[in-house]
Amino acid sequence: MAYYYKLGKIPPKRHTQFRQPDGSLYTEELAGSKGFSGIYSLLYHIFPPTRVKKVLDSEPIGNKLSENYPLLQTHLNTSQVETTGIDYLESRKILLMNQDVSLAICNPEGKVMDYFYKNADGDEVIFIHEGNGHLHSQFGSLRILKGDYVVIPRTTIYKINWDKGPVRLLIIESSGPVETVKRYRNELGQLLEHAPYSERDIRPPANLETDANRGEVMMKIKKGGFLHHYIYDHSPMDVIGWDGFLYPYAFSIHDFEPITGRIHQPPPVHQTFQAHNFVICSFVPRLFDYHPLSIPAPYNHSNIDSDEVLFYVDGNFMSRRGIDRGSFTLHPGGLPHGPHPGTVEKSIGATKTEELAVMVDTFKPLYLTEEALQYLDEGYPYSWLED
Ligand SMILES: [Fe+2]
Repeated sequence: MAYYYKLGKIPPKRHTQFRQPDGSLYTEELAGSKGFSGIYSLLYHIFPPTRVKKVLDSEPIGNKLSENYPLLQTHLNTSQVETTGIDYLESRKILLMNQDVSLAICNPEGKVMDYFYKNADGDEVIFIHEGNGHLHSQFGSLRILKGDYVVIPRTTIYKINWDKGPVRLLIIESSGPVETVKRYRNELGQLLEHAPYSERDIRPPANLETDANRGEVMMKIKKGGFLHHYIYDHSPMDVIGWDGFLYPYAFSIHDFEPITGRIHQPPPVHQTFQAHNFVICSFVPRLFDYHPLSIPAPYNHSNIDSDEVLFYVDGNFMSRRGIDRGSFTLHPGGLPHGPHPGTVEKSIGATKTEELAVMVDTFKPLYLTEEALQYLDEGYPYSWLED
């Protein structure tokens, strides 16, 4: 994260004596990235975070890639999917992945999580398509709402309580850190005036919930293709205070201020986050181009070295036909793609769009999982033919 934040009680100087009311020391923990060279936070615990009571069996998780899937423009029609399971973790169904990123749908029925979870493999970005709730983590409680990107750094211990169903999530898991866009930051990390969002739009955890209770607590840890089950003898929510730059936060797609122009603006103006070998972009309601001869529909383009995924959130996506909210399209590098027949002429004279979509552009090829095959729209590769 790009700004300093603190919650709760912390000592005036780091790595110094900080005592509990009974005279014992609080336990300091550094959560740091890139060794000791990246962003970090310092957390102060009632109990040492190392007190493991029991390690249970690990459970293999992961998704099989589909074999021999050809080079195809791809539409995964997931719009009709209601629930994908009961539990938050079991409901995650990865549809597209490579070494850098995976994209999953996750529509849990809303069972209360009776365990904590941490992802030790990667950062998570949870885009909330439907649902509201609270993300409870060691960093405090964060209200999360429909339309939010919830960015959770790896190893953040958390659980989510949803208000009620239905819950529809797009979960983007990144092997590298997920960051704000570098070209929108000054040399000290502050977001610049021309950025489509500012620090005021980024919501950190608001309330620290310190749990001093002892007792067995289950933690599920994702690492290396397994879900590991650890029993601790205390709650991981025993943090009395913390400060730093590393913490989960929410940013609403509705707070993304679109950048528009006289003629069609290219996709980088929609960029919202960056990560290793991929970017996340937001297409939001906006005024269209205002040159008198402008064509608001996008032009055909060959993304010669990237794969492009669009997740259709809401509104009428003007350059596509046959796409519903909740659908994915994958336009792979190696093939040109563009607006569907009729949509270019139709776009001329339009003054605004209400479309809402999340785009993930990857710089390495994406692969479909076996799970994804059930959602294939067989006609999509031919959908650019005139009627
Ligand atoms: Fe495109």
